[in-house]
Amino acid sequence: ALERTLSIIKPDAVAKNVIGEIYTRFEKAGLKVVASKMKQLSKAEAEGFYAVHRERPFFNALVEFMISGPVMIQVLEGEGAVLKNRDLMGATNPKEAAAGTIRADFADSIDANAVHGSDSLENAAVEIAYFFPATDVYAR
Ligand code: CMP
Repeated sequence: ALERTLSIIKPDAVAKNVIGEIYTRFEKAGLKVVASKMKQLSKAEAEGFYAVHRERPFFNALVEFMISGPVMIQVLEGEGAVLKNRDLMGATNPKEAAAGTIRADFADSIDANAVHGSDSLENAAVEIAYFFPATDVYAR
């Protein structure tokens, strides 16, 4: 089915100047960018976005990392977009990410892991709404 998912290029990958290389991977896989913005997240924004992880031991490090520089946030649209984006990203821990995935090629650690992608269609809707009003998402 045609789906939308939320993708974030994290501060490490923005600093490495690989936004374009990552967008090319989305496009070559048939995913369309239907919304996008660069943004310096506030601490409150990062904490709210990752609220489901609030009790996890890595929460504070995750929030500090996500506000360490600007991120590139996009909505991707395409057939099976949620799973397709997760396949492109590879495993959360780059040491376990399959060759040729975004994390295998651009991530340095489980914290600085280059990209975030929604893990389910339900969470995708919540995450998209967190960053983009419906009028800023362009079906095409
Ligand atoms: P992300 O997909 O953005 O969702 C939560 C993030 O927490 C995850 O990617 C990792 O960058 C980070 N993280 C750090 N340690 C862990 C861990 N042990 N398990 C899962 N995620 C972790």
